[in-house]
Amino acid sequence: MFDLNGKVAIVTGGGSGIGTATSQRLRKAGAQVLIGDITDCKAKAAEWDCHYHQTDVSKPAEVAALCDEAIKRFGRLDIMVNNAAISSGHPLAEADEARSLKFWRVNVMGVQMGIKEAAARMKPGSAIVNISSITAVLGFAQWGEYGATKGAIISLSQTAAIEYASLGIRVNCICPGIFDTPMAMSEAPDMVHKNTNVFSLIGRIGRPEELAAAVHFLVSDDASYITGQTLLVDGGWSTGTSIKAIGLALSS
Ligand SMILES: NC(=O)c1ccc[n+]([C@@H]2O[C@H](COP(=O)([O-])OP(=O)(O)OC[C@H]3O[C@@H](n4cnc5c(N)ncnc54)[C@H](O)[C@@H]3O)[C@@H](O)[C@H]2O)c1
Repeated sequence: MFDLNGKVAIVTGGGSGIGTATSQRLRKAGAQVLIGDITDCKAKAAEWDCHYHQTDVSKPAEVAALCDEAIKRFGRLDIMVNNAAISSGHPLAEADEARSLKFWRVNVMGVQMGIKEAAARMKPGSAIVNISSITAVLGFAQWGEYGATKGAIISLSQTAAIEYASLGIRVNCICPGIFDTPMAMSEAPDMVHKNTNVFSLIGRIGRPEELAAAVHFLVSDDASYITGQTLLVDGGWSTGTSIKAIGLALSS
């Protein structure tokens, strides 16, 4: 089940957090994994029996070069995980043009070009997974600039699923809730844990390995009838307001 032997995968942003867990998981399932990350993680990638190609996903030529590297090194490309992103929280009243444009270049353009360049090199039976966020489907105070870019990824994934269906390429999207990674912990770790414990129905923050498991399923042939979908992996947060959250509101 979920066997990836003989397949070749690219994971962008594989040098940290969810990308690392995904790279390790796909490798263990048998895929050759090429990590494209702006941060040099060549040594770590080698430890995980993966490969590394320095890539800034906000630069289309570098995304194309990353996909070329997969073909040069392994002769094929079957799986693309567009995972790299940047984030920070700011009220919309403080929205900043330069910061917003940077978010869009990395989080949206990076995914858009990742889809385009990977699909151009893929054969029927290949799969693309794009990593969005719970902020794409729920409003979060201070996360408007970032959340807008993540909403765009759902839209891109749906259109890509339609446009590439005739080539036999499936495209899906995952919206993580809150996961224990450097990105999530960079702001206010105590607050992140406390909120997640209350709002997630599972009652705790997600582990990157739990997100990687969902990616693994969607890129495997076991998901051969699933395309154009958005999967929320959020511990049930997006379902609604839990009894714990109601209790918190009443007690404050
Ligand atoms: N951690 C969470 O709670 C959470 C929640 C929702 C969505 N997400 C999404 O999950 C994905 C992974 O997040 P994470 O928490 O593992 O983040 P992370 O910060 O731990 O890792 C992100 C990786 O992306 C790389 N990266 C950043 N900019 C890049 C660029 N321009 N080109 C190439 N690589 C670049 C970084 O070097 C890093 O290795 C992101 O798309 C993020 O938006 C995370």
